[in-house]
Amino acid sequence: MNTYIGIDLGTSTVKMLLVAADGTILSSVTKDYPVSYPQDGWSEQNPEDWYTAVLAGISELLEGQDKKAVKGISAGGQMHGLVALDADDNVVRPCILWNDGRTAKETEYLNTEIGKAKLTELTGNIAFAGFTAPKILWLKANEPENFARIAKIMLPKDYIVYKLSGTFSSDLSDAAGTLLLDVKNRRWSDEMCSICGVSEKMLPELHESYETVGKLKSELAEKFGLCDVKIIAGAGDNAAAAVGTGTVGEGGCNVSLGTSGTLFVSSATYSEDKRNALHSFCHADGGYHLMGCILSAASCNAWWADGILGTDDYAKEQAGLDKQLGDNNVYFLPYLMGERSPHNDVNARGAFIGMRPDTTRGQMTLAVMEGVAFALKDCLEAARANGVKVERTKICGGGAKSPLWRQIIADVFDMPVDIPVTEQGPSYGAAMLAMVGCGEYADVKSAADAIVRVSETVMPDKAAEKYRERYAMFAKLYPALKDVFRDMSGR
Ligand code: XUL
Repeated sequence: MNTYIGIDLGTSTVKMLLVAADGTILSSVTKDYPVSYPQDGWSEQNPEDWYTAVLAGISELLEGQDKKAVKGISAGGQMHGLVALDADDNVVRPCILWNDGRTAKETEYLNTEIGKAKLTELTGNIAFAGFTAPKILWLKANEPENFARIAKIMLPKDYIVYKLSGTFSSDLSDAAGTLLLDVKNRRWSDEMCSICGVSEKMLPELHESYETVGKLKSELAEKFGLCDVKIIAGAGDNAAAAVGTGTVGEGGCNVSLGTSGTLFVSSATYSEDKRNALHSFCHADGGYHLMGCILSAASCNAWWADGILGTDDYAKEQAGLDKQLGDNNVYFLPYLMGERSPHNDVNARGAFIGMRPDTTRGQMTLAVMEGVAFALKDCLEAARANGVKVERTKICGGGAKSPLWRQIIADVFDMPVDIPVTEQGPSYGAAMLAMVGCGEYADVKSAADAIVRVSETVMPDKAAEKYRERYAMFAKLYPALKDVFRDMSGR
């Protein structure tokens, strides 16, 4: 049976799967790389570190596997990162990541001087600090020597595609997050390019996520012992995750609990969020989606457990907390890196509120998980404000491994949560896109229908009613603290 490699180029790790055409996972590998935080609110990564990790990962993934069976490779990747190459294909500077908040000034310029209405008309979206366009403007203003060297601008997974195949390409789901794409018409926006001072020649050729863009370079094929392997365009990690959980076509919903947290609603047709809290992007199935993104999700739990409590035994830390669902009086605002949806505020920061002398470690752990669920509920409410009907959701990402967190999401959302057999959304989805690109399935929907299975459904429990009140309290906290956050940032 033919096999496919799916890559998830994440923020802290690259995850790779070798998947058979019938959806069976044959092997998996994870490789880490560092993130640097050179200043408060900044985050950067070295694209060469990604590539080194991918090469080592592919070799490991293929150990003991039938190499002749490998037909295609595709990647889902962290979105919005600015990767710039010079005329000799050298990386101009470290990639400025999706959760970097340095572009407050440029974001403000785009949203006020160009104006939200104009941006929405051109791209379907307003500017958020993590998007690529404000980063280009930041580079132009703050590192003109680097800006002048730019020959190619690409997104993180496009750098991997470029290194593997030599093809300078992107896909529409990821390109949508640059704020340079006319999302509705699925093409680069000339006007946005001129606002940002870049020419279309500097941008990759656009493809649907499931289209073949090239072949694995012969020297790499030889190194890995592979034969004739196609490289497929791939997708932004959230669109790839949606494919991997079968969230395709009209009206599907997927929640991802990764470093970021997202609420992803798929749609066959284009629409915009009237209040611009949610992103309006192309989907990897050829359609569209609305998406809310919170910048810190499973990363809040990692920060709290690993960084503060000093434990990596999450299950032990969460044991018994299910008995307290709905009764916790401690709240946590998960804005460790500022917040994207719905607040669009680079100054926001994390906060615990409501502690008393008898507050326990368990209540604070629970508050962290609940705070992430409430922030995602903000995104759900923003979708509902557009008339979008969401009655159940899928879930994926590292945080979705926690039965407690799944139950909290089901209760806070007050809806059934379907757990796919594999929670490895983006890498699985990327492998599925490779299958479609190689003709294994006619389209993304057919691949999802054939392969993606739900293993169980978590139903909302009696805590759901209590969580309605607690969410109402949570919703008061950010507005009360907004000015404090701004003053603390000194901006
Ligand atoms: C989505 C976003 C994040 C990153 C995480 O808009 O910024 O979900 O894609 O990798």
